[in-house]
Amino acid sequence: MKPWNLLTLEDKKYLLIGEGKNQSYKINPMLEVLEILKWEKAALEKDFPEDGGACVKLGDKQIAVFNFTSKGEWYATDNRCPHKKQMVLSRGIIGDKGGEPKVACPFHKRQFSLESGECLDDADCGAIKTYPIRVEDGVVYIAES
Ligand code: FES
Repeated sequence: MKPWNLLTLEDKKYLLIGEGKNQSYKINPMLEVLEILKWEKAALEKDFPEDGGACVKLGDKQIAVFNFTSKGEWYATDNRCPHKKQMVLSRGIIGDKGGEPKVACPFHKRQFSLESGECLDDADCGAIKTYPIRVEDGVVYIAES
């Protein structure tokens, strides 16, 4: 891990300071420690399709990882769609809705923000959880937040 990284979460930038092998501190611009992120190796970068998603299992969780190549960004969310509780979001279509990166569920096409996890077209549907993600030296890491 590099000695520091810049992470963007919910439109805010955080500085990540390395500490140990797979941990980093998330701090705000006032240099207050907000939380400690524990990074877990998810898979190799080459295992994910360009402009698409794949599912990884971390512990007992299924996490949808999206390699948004055309935006040069990576995203990680729950794989479970809250609509019918299906583990399908990694197979959804990624795109953009008014500048917001999103995934559309392959079943009934509800759209979720890849940044906030909010459902963008059904207020009753509920949100999905998003996870910090980073890629370093060809390896994709995900942290619980
Ligand atoms: S199961 Fe995802 S929109 Fe219905």
